Amino acid sequence: MIDLTTGYLGLTLKNPIIVGSSGLTDSAEKVKTLQENGAAAVVLKSIFEEEITLEYEKIVAEEAPKRYKDEFLDYLDYRIKDQNLNRYVDLIASAKKAVEIPVIASVNCSSKHEWTNFAYQMQEAGADALEVNLFVLPSNINKSPEDSEKFYFDVINGLKNKLKIPIALKISYYFTNLALMIQKLSESGIDGLVLFNRFYSPDIDTEKMEVTSTNVLSHPDELVIPLRWIAIMANRVKCDLVASTGIHDGKAVIKQLLAGAQAVQVVSTIYNNGPEKIQNMLKDLKKWMINHEFQTIDDFRGKLSQVNAGNPSVYERVQFMRYFSDRDKSSK
Ligand SMILES: Cc1cc2nc3c(=O)[nH]c(=O)nc-3n(C[C@H](O)[C@H](O)[C@H](O)COP(=O)(O)O)c2cc1C
Repeated sequence: MIDLTTGYLGLTLKNPIIVGSSGLTDSAEKVKTLQENGAAAVVLKSIFEEEITLEYEKIVAEEAPKRYKDEFLDYLDYRIKDQNLNRYVDLIASAKKAVEIPVIASVNCSSKHEWTNFAYQMQEAGADALEVNLFVLPSNINKSPEDSEKFYFDVINGLKNKLKIPIALKISYYFTNLALMIQKLSESGIDGLVLFNRFYSPDIDTEKMEVTSTNVLSHPDELVIPLRWIAIMANRVKCDLVASTGIHDGKAVIKQLLAGAQAVQVVSTIYNNGPEKIQNMLKDLKKWMINHEFQTIDDFRGKLSQVNAGNPSVYERVQFMRYFSDRDKSSK
């Protein structure tokens, strides 16, 4: 019998496939369909701190000429936040009612303002864990790396004081010393790190001479970024690592588990192929385990992490020099 269970954030998952935060998880019905197709957990669509703030600022700008008193603006601030939060709390409660699999709430934020107070209400609504998507593009040249990084620990400390449920942090790879940052975050009391978030990135349309955006959905080749960092960090952290970005098929799941991930998150492949893709990925994972005579995920998890790989330097090689010189020789 093949056993696909894995642990993540202290929760037992029936298999390592989690559907990541996105429009795929913004209603109880969608979450139910994902469960029916084999998802082991879901991360709900994020509540965006930015969205709440912008909505408030827009109304205030419209109302400003009327010179409302501060008390009114305070009330407005409170009402907008309350309405957004209520909608989110309802989403958590309805998703929890609809499925048995763990439901992870998600906040997308770039400051440590009052939203940390919301986290408690998410816990009370029944969320099994909270994933915090923290990101500030380090583009401010007047800010030191220490200042940028301190913010992450301030947020964690604020949350740890308020929550009993496990906390995962979804981060980017824009840090001065990524390995050290991952290690320090893993020792900060959080339960998991999601490596990595994928960003909305600008592009340029040369004909229209306009700034546009790159693809919203990932390409399977992008899997190598989390793969390298999961492999390098797998035996050096004090929390779970979950891989995210570019995981499009069963083989990609196997690779991340071999590198040392506890689980993976998938989004783009479900947008491309529908929730049935999860069944297909699980089938391929099982088939591979049978072929290689593994009965549990722990039998092979981390077998090719940097520490366990026969040649650990492969994960740190970044230069193509030898590859190109060999290629150039063979083309002569
Ligand atoms: C349409 C769409 C909406 C997303 N919304 C969120 C979100 O609300 N919060 C979040 O943390 N990530 C969000 N993401 C990012 C995904 O959770 C994930 O990190 C990213 O798509 C990379 O995974 P993938 O390669 O499997 O798509 C979104 C992605 C897509 C494509």
